[in-house]
Amino acid sequence: MALFGKKPKQSEVSELVLPKHVGIIMDGNGRWAKKRGLPRKAGHTEGARTFRKITRYCSEVGIKYLTVYAFSTENWRRPEDEVGALMKLFKSYLEEAISDFKDDDIVVRFIGDKSGFSPELQALMDENEECSRERDGMVLNIAMNYGSRDEIVRAVKRIASDVKDGKISEDEITEQLVSDNLYTAGQPDPDLIIRPSGEYRISNFLLWQSAYTEFVIMNKLWPDFQKSDLDEALQIYAQRNRRYGGV
Ligand code: FPP
Repeated sequence: MALFGKKPKQSEVSELVLPKHVGIIMDGNGRWAKKRGLPRKAGHTEGARTFRKITRYCSEVGIKYLTVYAFSTENWRRPEDEVGALMKLFKSYLEEAISDFKDDDIVVRFIGDKSGFSPELQALMDENEECSRERDGMVLNIAMNYGSRDEIVRAVKRIASDVKDGKISEDEITEQLVSDNLYTAGQPDPDLIIRPSGEYRISNFLLWQSAYTEFVIMNKLWPDFQKSDLDEALQIYAQRNRRYGGV
């Protein structure tokens, strides 16, 4: 059930005004597992299945960019065994992903600080990006060791260094220049961010990029998220009146 917005009229997704860029905060894996008396890592395994299903579906319905929040800069604070289980899951996923999204023509990109991961994981991330670079389907950004504040600080440092080196003047610092120094450089800002699990938080996700993004909070845990839930979020989005600060 959607907590925001009017109940949408039933209409085909193919007839809707589609968002170009969708972000998803894949939340609720731990609660899903707890409800079943399972360890939290079982929730992440199920969450990874949902991730594959929904990614493919987004590509099928015609979304051009999808950004999923898989691991934040703050998630390292979780118990060692949970972080270890997530790293194992990322490794097995990345080993399969190269061929996995090939038929769907999906371009895989990682946003976040890769250097926080093991050399093996970093190599797999690079390989995934390299292998999918030439595809021309949906762009999938997987946010791993990603934090939006960290991303903004990184952009500020790069710009400051260019000013110091005389490459640009202070007057040349614009909103566009900041956007160009983010991980998502060259991509449109997200039109829609979906957060399952009923939490009303942005959790350090795409802060700069979401200045005019529409939010849809769904009262479903991520492992339970179905294609029909995405349809519902898209229907709610299509009924929103975006004004970008105007009237
Ligand atoms: C948040 O739920 C979820 C995460 C921190 C991990 C998300 C990872 C996946 C869905 C795995 C799939 C990703 C890839 C790229 C294979 P939570 O653990 O905070 O849930 P809770 O709020 O119920 O505790």
